[in-house]
Amino acid sequence: MRRAVTPGSFDPVTKGHLDIIVRSSRLFDEVIVAVLVNQAKAGMFSVEERLDMLREVTAEYPNVRIESFQGLLVDFCRTQGAGVVVKGIRAVSDFDYELQMAQMNIGLAGIETLFMPTNPLYSFIASSLVKEVSKWGGDVSAHVPDVVARRLAARRPQ
Ligand code: PNS
Repeated sequence: MRRAVTPGSFDPVTKGHLDIIVRSSRLFDEVIVAVLVNQAKAGMFSVEERLDMLREVTAEYPNVRIESFQGLLVDFCRTQGAGVVVKGIRAVSDFDYELQMAQMNIGLAGIETLFMPTNPLYSFIASSLVKEVSKWGGDVSAHVPDVVARRLAARRPQ
């Protein structure tokens, strides 16, 4: 089975993330969306909330599975029997760090990384920006799935 992992913080999932997940699901037999559990960074949404939102927005894709992981991404890939990581590249500015990680991951465990260009409609979207805009009352409904827009609105200071 050809299995790929799309890792990230997903705090929260955006339409840019979802586009990469869905396009990956057409290329692989199974795609595992891997949410990093980062003890050092609390984030806006708990890992359980991020998993819930991801499960809801990917429910119609039967070959997409949502999991969380701690530690090294390559170790998670090995436990899942996945040899490929797919990463979205929004702009050249993403590339330097992503290339470093890809080279580290191939050196550590022979895990390949495929870079997928982000849909230009979503190339400026980042979870951090979406949280900032929503916090101050801006409309992010074009940038995140509906369930995420609702949860962001519920977190807005009154
Ligand atoms: O959405 P993010 O925060 O940009 O995702 C970054 C992520 C989770 C892909 C990256 O931090 C990661 O792979 N972390 C796991 C720890 C690890 O393997 N570090 C070494 C990378 S070479």
